[in-house]
Amino acid sequence: MPMARDLGAETPAPVDLLVCTTCRLPDAAPEAATAPRAGAELAMALAASAQDGLRIIPVECLSNCKRGCTIALRKPGAWTYVYGNLTPEAHLSAIIEGAQKYRDAEGGLVPWRERPEHFRKNCIARIPPLEAPNV
Ligand code: FES
Repeated sequence: MPMARDLGAETPAPVDLLVCTTCRLPDAAPEAATAPRAGAELAMALAASAQDGLRIIPVECLSNCKRGCTIALRKPGAWTYVYGNLTPEAHLSAIIEGAQKYRDAEGGLVPWRERPEHFRKNCIARIPPLEAPNV
């Protein structure tokens, strides 16, 4: 359920969109030492498409190396989700759409049918909120 965003409401904490900058695509040819990796290209593309309430955070390795590119979504009091098999060319809009829905969903729980198709098929992990004693 989307959170209310009226002027009297408290502004929700921004969502962290962590992007692995060291991911390579599984079928990538050996690259020149100076060529940016696909993960770095994805992070740059996401940073260039700044979205309200989303904070792009480059990270090195989310331990999903064979299924990169990889991102994670987190926010206080919410489930954390890790997604893989992403490419900068094909999935930029799906990532933004999925991150916006996650941002607006209470507890980060976006109904499965409302998630972008790539998110439905490529969720690597979901991790309970730090604050949840038993889930
Ligand atoms: S290099 Fe991206 S998850 Fe390991």
